[in-house]
Amino acid sequence: MTIMLSKSNQQERWERRYQEGRAAWDRGAPSPALGLGLAQMPEPPARVLIPACGRGYEIAELARRGYRVTGVDFAPSAVADLQKALRAQQLDATVVASDLFTWEPDEPFDVIYEQTALCALEPQQWPEYASRLARWLRPGGLLVGAFMQTHREGGPPWHCPLDAIEQLFRAEQWLWPERKDRTIAHPSGLKELAIILKRRN
Ligand SMILES: C[S@@+](CC[C@H](N)C(=O)[O-])C[C@H]1O[C@@H](n2cnc3c(N)ncnc32)[C@H](O)[C@@H]1O
Repeated sequence: MTIMLSKSNQQERWERRYQEGRAAWDRGAPSPALGLGLAQMPEPPARVLIPACGRGYEIAELARRGYRVTGVDFAPSAVADLQKALRAQQLDATVVASDLFTWEPDEPFDVIYEQTALCALEPQQWPEYASRLARWLRPGGLLVGAFMQTHREGGPPWHCPLDAIEQLFRAEQWLWPERKDRTIAHPSGLKELAIILKRRN
């Protein structure tokens, strides 16, 4: 039986990990997944959302390139670090300290860059999260995904098997690439499945 932590417990757990320096996922730099995404993304000033952005190195990189970027995360330390880094680099982006399950954007985005966010959520939350992503993206928009592969029980990070991703982002609503096995290395030594989906009209 999997017991789901309450929202406030989940938030406290992530915040504690940042405060105690137990953030093994933190690359300290943009992920190579961003390079894959940039090759297919619309030109700046397209609007990009990064849910569960953490310290958001990709936000700074996209802002530097002229994208209009919004990052959302509920860990106050991560949000504060990101805001400080953006200020230091004189970069402009919107950073929201919020739970992804209560936040709503004013208008849909052209691109959503989802990097190790799904694996951070309890699997019971995945269908609700996936329907939110579909709602937050405009028709024809891109979902650039880096989905954690742990091949282990339990989490977070939870293993995100390809068949579960296919169920969450069904082919009737999402255009899938032919190649579904591209991976990128994660700082923890694990791999992420790099998949770029297009929301059908
Ligand atoms: C594994 S970390 C990944 C952070 C970032 N994407 C990266 O790759 O560095 C997961 C992040 O999800 C955030 N998070 C988890 N559940 C969330 C929720 N319901 N709402 C907002 N943020 C959440 C945590 O605070 C944490 O920063």
